[in-house]
Amino acid sequence: MKFTRHLFTGFLMVALWSCAGEQPDERACKKQIVVSPHRIANQVGMKILHSGGNAFDAAVAVHMALAVVYPRAGNIGGGGFAVFGTEKGTAGALDFRETAPMAASSDMYLDENGNVIKGKSTEGIFSAGVPGSVAGMVALHDRYGRLPWEQLLSDAVRLARKGFVVSGKQAAVFNRFQEKLLTINGPNPFVHKRGYWQEGDTLKQPGLAAALERIAKDKYKGFYEGQTADDIVATVQRHNGLITHNDLKNYRAVWRKPVMARFGRYTVVSMPPPSSGGIALAQLLYGFERLKGDTLRHNSAPYVHLLTELERRVYADRADYLGDMDFYPVPVGRLLDTTYLNERFSNISMDTATPSREIKSGNVEDVESFETTHYIVADSAGNVVSVTTTINSYFGSKVVVAGSGFLLNNEMDDFSVKPGVPNQFGLVGSEANRIEPGKRMLSSMTPVVVLHDKNFVLAVGTPGGATIITSVFQTLLNTLVYDMPVQEAVNAPKFHSQWLPDVIFYEEDKVGSALLDSLRAMHHEPRPVKQLGKMKLVLLENGCYRAATDTLRGDDGLAVPGE
Ligand code: DON
Repeated sequence: MKFTRHLFTGFLMVALWSCAGEQPDERACKKQIVVSPHRIANQVGMKILHSGGNAFDAAVAVHMALAVVYPRAGNIGGGGFAVFGTEKGTAGALDFRETAPMAASSDMYLDENGNVIKGKSTEGIFSAGVPGSVAGMVALHDRYGRLPWEQLLSDAVRLARKGFVVSGKQAAVFNRFQEKLLTINGPNPFVHKRGYWQEGDTLKQPGLAAALERIAKDKYKGFYEGQTADDIVATVQRHNGLITHNDLKNYRAVWRKPVMARFGRYTVVSMPPPSSGGIALAQLLYGFERLKGDTLRHNSAPYVHLLTELERRVYADRADYLGDMDFYPVPVGRLLDTTYLNERFSNISMDTATPSREIKSGNVEDVESFETTHYIVADSAGNVVSVTTTINSYFGSKVVVAGSGFLLNNEMDDFSVKPGVPNQFGLVGSEANRIEPGKRMLSSMTPVVVLHDKNFVLAVGTPGGATIITSVFQTLLNTLVYDMPVQEAVNAPKFHSQWLPDVIFYEEDKVGSALLDSLRAMHHEPRPVKQLGKMKLVLLENGCYRAATDTLRGDDGLAVPGE
């Protein structure tokens, strides 16, 4: 296996950038960097780094800024995961995933005949889990932060109170959801405007500003107790939901031992359960190495076939074995055991597809694209924080916390609401991911940091529901095996397979018919989707951070990438 990423000479690097049609900019040697989906959040993060804050401080500031300027996914009403490497060469993982309320039960989304009630787990108050984001940010700051907490929130408060200018893309998204938000919340809901939003309009959020001020003042208690908690519970009660003051008061972020996967000369650090991402990614990377994927031409038919065969087996494992480890004995050791994996991958034919039904039966619908977001902060001391956070769908449950002006997530849909019945991402699950009070729902979010000899190499992450794991997998291959420059690695066409449905999703307009025909000849069924992933990638090369966001697939770009 090649894994030549670190062997580049300066000359070769320049040649490769030129090949990719990009201009190398030697002045652009970044010693610190912030990459998020919104340029204002990037600026907020950079300001914290300039003020002497470290990557953890800046991550908190970015998270809170995104809650204001990128409300379709940025949040204080959702949750997420942080994976990080520190200047001391250590790595860690923080879980601030939402939990099921204590009054939740395994049949809460079923009617009297045991059938799933359509929409109940995806929209409205019943779809909301107990939010984890604020506890997560407090935990990060308590353990690793350097600047005063209040300082980290001051820009978010200001942006909420004074407002920020809405982009054209944002205006379109707000307009698309106006009516839905109005139906669910009544008059004057969140991001409401008489008439339609237009590029250049200013969005002010006084309720959110007040909530953020309380969080700035009282940290954890500013959200999980007092006025903000009262607002949440009042909203929940008005909609006849389940979340109580006790659910909020008892919420805790949890430090987890990250999944550390060897891949060539690298250590790929990622998230353990309740994310499925770390384990799945480790399995995929091992399979790729074992079956000598690096001998295949990138995005050729045999390459896409191999990835698909690995993915169908890994996603079948996900459905059966993965859930919140605090509630279900996830067999982590076995899932990552090489004897097990050798056996699991031993019946892969390099010529023909294995029908997913032969691996395990199931029945699912289609995959659609929704919203989550990823940000990465890297400081000059070598701390790097990679965070994926979400309220699940666009605008989460669509329920706005009255008075505090933020959206509650619809993360409950990530539980297996009934064994074998797919969720909105077409993912099926079983006992391991059954709803239980206080349990965390299984996630696909896969924030990653890659190390070499304890030194930072790269960080990556993306939204995309079920497609997150495979998008991260391919982007890692693009950089670590196929030596692509960062922007090329992010832009490269991606494929996705998740066991069920038994198809290969590919990005329409990005794949030629010859490749699709070759895949069909191997008995695969290619199916077009609009896009796969919206990657953020930061790579350290010759002492400089290089970053890319997915402008091709709709990111606002790197306005202030770092310096
Ligand atoms: O945790 C998960 O796997 C999902 N709630 C993530 C949702 C998501 O990525 C939606 N955005 N594209």
